[in-house]
Amino acid sequence: MRENTVTIRRPDDWHLHLRDGALLRAVTPSSSFLFGRVMIMPNLVPPVTTVEKARVYRQRVLQAAVKSNPQFQPLMGLYLTDNTTVEEIDRVAMSTEVAAVKLYPAGATTNSASGVTSITKVMPVLERMALKNIPLMVHGEVVDADIDIFDREAVFIDRVLKPLRKRLPELRIVLEHVTTKQGVDFVQEQTDTMAATLTMHHLVINRNALLVGGIKPHNYCLPVAKREEHRLALVQAATGGDPHFFFGSDSAPHLQADKESACGCAGCFTAGHALLYLAEVFYQAEALEKLEGFVSRHGASFYGVSENTDTVSLCRSEEDDNSELSAGDISSEEGMIKAFATPGVSLRWNYIL
Ligand code: DOR
Ligand code: ZN
Repeated sequence: MRENTVTIRRPDDWHLHLRDGALLRAVTPSSSFLFGRVMIMPNLVPPVTTVEKARVYRQRVLQAAVKSNPQFQPLMGLYLTDNTTVEEIDRVAMSTEVAAVKLYPAGATTNSASGVTSITKVMPVLERMALKNIPLMVHGEVVDADIDIFDREAVFIDRVLKPLRKRLPELRIVLEHVTTKQGVDFVQEQTDTMAATLTMHHLVINRNALLVGGIKPHNYCLPVAKREEHRLALVQAATGGDPHFFFGSDSAPHLQADKESACGCAGCFTAGHALLYLAEVFYQAEALEKLEGFVSRHGASFYGVSENTDTVSLCRSEEDDNSELSAGDISSEEGMIKAFATPGVSLRWNYIL
């Protein structure tokens, strides 16, 4: 008989998009009621490129957070550009609010136009980060027009990440939202200066969920979901207990109208229920005892922060309740934000609050 309740240390979300303005106010409660640390992505327009901008943005995040969870702690990611200076890295090293720097290859994803055009241009900055022990978060996809979108992660690993690891093995790197078996295999072989985040949605859908039976814009994100064999490799990595892997939701809200469009935005809004789906993934893998490591311990260990001390509990219902398929939708002053939902995996878990 498998357990149908689980109690874990309060989880952290090591990859989160909260946006700004009306969207920030609408979506922040979905994370701040539950998570301890959240690593906030800097791909705003304009991007968060300095410690000072990050500090001011963090104040807006705190204002939008619910007050019921005193453990909620936003950690800021800084947006790396070709023009980032080593002096700015020194300011990051002095900051208690900026915890890492994010590398977006220019053009790879939402609001990445100011991103890095070539790794050689930022090498002095990366060297300084290694020296100051500042982690680099990487969106690991090449943007070359001749590379198939489903191969962009694997090619990035070969062309960019492997040489970077050789050149700067002491630089702490998080390969964000890994979606391929190649990504999992690569990270597993590395020392403890390398880690990876995994999202919930890449653990529960493969690329069929985008295209079979009609185009499904709410399942579209970047990196795009891959074949089933890759999803299985990700589930194995998440549920296997390897401390190289930890949870980063990549919850990326967009207005419904911007998703359901002729050029739909990339991103799945998962903040409020990601942990519930994750519990089912671990339950199905008969690895519920590994959930805590994945969501509450491995990330803290990589980032060198103490583990959260309080706990959250979840329970599983035997009923497959389809009414939950709209769970997590929210309305903002600018319009609706639809939460990720997939009929393939039932939402059987709930919080015991
Ligand atoms: O699907 C995604 N959405 N992937 C990203 O890398 C960015 C994110 C966003 O900001 O919308
Ligand atoms: Zn992201």
